[in-house]
Amino acid sequence: MAVPNKLPKDFIWGFATAAFQIEGSTNADGRGPSIWDEFSRTPGKTLDGKSGDYATESYKLWKEDIALLAAYGVRSYRFSLSWSRIIPLGGRNDPVNLKGIEFYSKFIDELLAHGITPFVTLYHWDLPQGLQDRYNGWLGKDEIVKDYANYAKVCFEAFGDRVKHWLTINEPWCCAILGHGRGVFAPGRSSDRNRSAEGDSSTEPWLVGHHIILAHAHAVKVYREEFKPTQKGQIGITLNGDWALPYDNTPENIDAAQHALDFAIGDYPFKLFDPVYLGFYPPYMREVLGNRMPDFTEDEWRVVKGSSDFYGMNTYTTNLCRAGGDDEFQGNVEYTFTRPDGSQLGTQAHCAWLQDYPDGFRQLLNYIWKRYKLPIYVTENGFAVKGETDIPIEEAVKDFDRIHYFQGTTKALLDAINHDGVDIRSYFPWSLLDNFEWADGYTTRFGVTYVDYETQTRYPKDSARFLVKWFNEHEHPEVAKRPKAKIPTSSLHLSSNGSVSSKASSPTPAPSRWGFRSTVMKVVAAILAFIR
Ligand code: BGC
Repeated sequence: MAVPNKLPKDFIWGFATAAFQIEGSTNADGRGPSIWDEFSRTPGKTLDGKSGDYATESYKLWKEDIALLAAYGVRSYRFSLSWSRIIPLGGRNDPVNLKGIEFYSKFIDELLAHGITPFVTLYHWDLPQGLQDRYNGWLGKDEIVKDYANYAKVCFEAFGDRVKHWLTINEPWCCAILGHGRGVFAPGRSSDRNRSAEGDSSTEPWLVGHHIILAHAHAVKVYREEFKPTQKGQIGITLNGDWALPYDNTPENIDAAQHALDFAIGDYPFKLFDPVYLGFYPPYMREVLGNRMPDFTEDEWRVVKGSSDFYGMNTYTTNLCRAGGDDEFQGNVEYTFTRPDGSQLGTQAHCAWLQDYPDGFRQLLNYIWKRYKLPIYVTENGFAVKGETDIPIEEAVKDFDRIHYFQGTTKALLDAINHDGVDIRSYFPWSLLDNFEWADGYTTRFGVTYVDYETQTRYPKDSARFLVKWFNEHEHPEVAKRPKAKIPTSSLHLSSNGSVSSKASSPTPAPSRWGFRSTVMKVVAAILAFIR
């Protein structure tokens, strides 16, 4: 039964990460190379010139990360599997790496032992390099669809007895547009010959989007036919999409905001949902792309339509939209955060594309719910505080702007559920840890936990404390309360077996940058009085 001002009984919350952004250990235990290994090691591709080779060392520190999640009292954890750890070369006839399976299997067991529900993304952009070399990865339609479905099947077989929440693909828009249009993400293809020796930005993004839809839909078919009857899980895709407001109330800008949403949310291949759920291509996309837009066959439509059990939502901001511009990747609409009177929409984040505007989150939740009538899982939402990398750790952990962001979004979430009647099932702030922020390298921090990359020490930020407290206060009264964990105010020592003990002094000597070997790490917790 709904309780005023509380979340639904089955609501799950936790934090989110992705394999390539945190794991490091890119050569360990038989892992094969991925397109992000190659791309991030290429000079000029990341802002600070750094790769994902070490990231937050979570392949080594996985027990410590889980202990941290347990200390935060989360119900769930969203993380992704690295395809090339599981099938190093990626293909359906290539060998499976048992060490990769074993790693994730133990990881899942450890989460469950802490009462944390695994929420698993199969693909968060780290395609095996082997498939890129063999047939240009997502461009190789017949092969990639089969290889992805096979990889998904290997994962359902290995982990599906314990994993009941699957996301097939994270944000196809980024793979299609940023990876094959703008060329700023792996594999970095683009028509811009200063950026890439190969690529065609006018056709490849649309093909990639098309093939991703098919790969997703075929994996879902495999799950539904072969695994769901016994494993009884949920499966779907997760899409990025931000709310769009008209710049002013002129008819052309009102249209522009709708076009931005059409391109960002509804239209193929950006957000896949109209094809996936409604079973048709929206007219505006056809109008813009003409015969560059690939079509599905009758048989393909049958697999695609209805191929997601829910709407997976990654959302961060709101854009003011003005008609004009020639950027077809955003529907020939101009985006701004500056209102006609010169004021800003919200607080500026470290990255140019993000400002804080919680009302947009609530409106987006309502829009999606009305359009698709499906439960919504919010799988990412977060904020990067401006300049956080340039200030001392003691200041960075007092992340007021991030707290302000989450104050707004948690209120919007609750209002959307309780006042607007939107069916929302989860909330995963991005991210558990500061981590490898793709083309930004390590210069942009999204974590609720500060990571000192020199020592791999984790420092909980005040935003983590805010969120833990907020969820404790808003969980449904019937949700079993966690045993009250006494979290020390000075420091947390997380041992390699994951047990948490209080330790105010004697930190493990800091290993030098990227040279982490110790199996024991010290997490200095700036958490003051978590309320459980
Ligand atoms: C991605 C994350 C990324 C975050 C912040 C999302 O689009 O899924 O991997 O770190 O945004 O940019």
